Amino acid sequence: MAIRVVVAGATGWVGKALVPAILGESDLVLAGAVARNAAGVDAGIASGREACGVAIAATLEEALAMPSDVVVDYTKPHVVKGHVLAALRAGRNVVVGTSGLGADDYAEIGAAAEKKGVGVIAAGNFSITATLLKRFALMAARYVPDVEVIDYASAKKPDAPSGTARELAEALSGVRGASTARPQSEVSGIPATRGAAVGSGAGIQVHALRMPSFVLSCEALFGLPDERLTIRHDAGSSAAPYVAGTLLAVRRVVGMKGLLRGLDRLMD
Ligand SMILES: NC(=O)c1ccc[n+]([C@@H]2O[C@H](COP(=O)([O-])OP(=O)(O)OC[C@H]3O[C@@H](n4cnc5c(N)ncnc54)[C@H](OP(=O)(O)O)[C@@H]3O)[C@@H](O)[C@H]2O)c1
Repeated sequence: MAIRVVVAGATGWVGKALVPAILGESDLVLAGAVARNAAGVDAGIASGREACGVAIAATLEEALAMPSDVVVDYTKPHVVKGHVLAALRAGRNVVVGTSGLGADDYAEIGAAAEKKGVGVIAAGNFSITATLLKRFALMAARYVPDVEVIDYASAKKPDAPSGTARELAEALSGVRGASTARPQSEVSGIPATRGAAVGSGAGIQVHALRMPSFVLSCEALFGLPDERLTIRHDAGSSAAPYVAGTLLAVRRVVGMKGLLRGLDRLMD
């Protein structure tokens, strides 16, 4: 049976690419679409294609009134948690693309999913090559304990760090050894310029740059005495790289129970 999918954020940069991709897959059905400003408009038309017969709803609650299997969220950092919890309460599986959530939020989301017996797959970045950045960085961290993350994005990005950098730092903090850098508390001058510690334990220093010309780039920088390794991902200007990973998650989340974070966990 086809998987019925609701896209929250259907008219956004990612949503507009995702809607036609879902409409083009024989095992997926677009069961709903959500965006406030285009409420009532056909989701196919809103994504620049032919009409598909699905009218965009103004709220997720409205879309959840119709039967569906999976809610995909590509909205805004201040909206996503409410959406995910509402979808879980309604017994839907959820795929989270929106950034802004951290380990504590995901602990709550994971518990809610377990309780309802449904699945959640979340990834700070659903692109294959950004996922490889995470995988290679986690390999390197086993050998090189000194690592910091640089997060580059457009001047207008509303949240920092990006979901990519946050997920990477949280994962790295769980595997790397003790850093040899002077602790921030012992740094004189303006210690905040050392960035923010993200993740468990001492955390990983994350430095977020926001300026025109960047879409999204993320760098894991490793250092040993007299040598350095940089592992970097640069996003291009289209949302296409996120679509394939999101569709993979949509197919895998059905039948899952609880939370899975990171596309790397699905790739093999
Ligand atoms: N995980 C990944 O691989 C990945 C990749 C790219 C982007 N992202 C993240 O995904 C999120 C979305 O990115 P984007 O660039 O597509 O954003 P965007 O272009 O700003 O689109 C946001 C969408 O959400 C809708 N929206 C906003 N507030 C809403 C609300 N309260 N209720 C319902 N719909 C609402 C918007 O429509 P209305 O304003 O009309 O409601 C729009 O359709 C961001 O957090 C971004 O960082 C993640």
